[in-house]
Amino acid sequence: MTGTDQATTAKEREWRWGTPRQIGRQLAWALLGAALWAMLLGILVAPRGGEITPVARGERLTWDGQIYPLLQRRCVLCHGNSGGLSLASYEQALRGGRNGPVIVPGNAEASLLYRTLLGPADGIPQMPLGQAQLSPEEIGFIRDWINQLPAANP
Ligand code: HEC
Repeated sequence: MTGTDQATTAKEREWRWGTPRQIGRQLAWALLGAALWAMLLGILVAPRGGEITPVARGERLTWDGQIYPLLQRRCVLCHGNSGGLSLASYEQALRGGRNGPVIVPGNAEASLLYRTLLGPADGIPQMPLGQAQLSPEEIGFIRDWINQLPAANP
């Protein structure tokens, strides 16, 4: 290589480094990297409850598949294990709150857990307290699940 060649290569490199196309590509990679980090962080800090398992209409709903993921996301923040009604496990949910059961197996209409989702009931304000109402589909999940619970042997 002659001195002139070297000078040209260095100049070309400098030039290439600075073309708008190169800068654009670097910026795109930087943005992609930032987006990936944001996603990873989102996964790490998101409340863990798992996703609601999709069900076909009329299919049996389960605590693990649909009900717990839903309650975990919308209710357990206040109804954890800090006294009063806990919705953190199936057994606790069935046990109820200070005033007794909030789930009457086989009868959603008689269940406070379902009725408070529609509006204030028995002196209890609408749930989730101070937050957006559950969607009709989510309320339907709770209703159908309670109605499917065997009355005698939950
Ligand atoms: C921001 C906090 C908060 C959230 C979120 C919340 N609740 Fe409540 N919930 C309360 C409080 C506080 C009470 C007690 C209200 C009272 O006694 O006046 C209560 C009471 C209840 C009761 C009656 C308990 C009993 O002992 O009779 C039921 C049932 C209930 N909540 C269901 C739910 C459900 C289902 C969700 C989720 C969809 C939910 N709550 C989300 C705060 C919350």
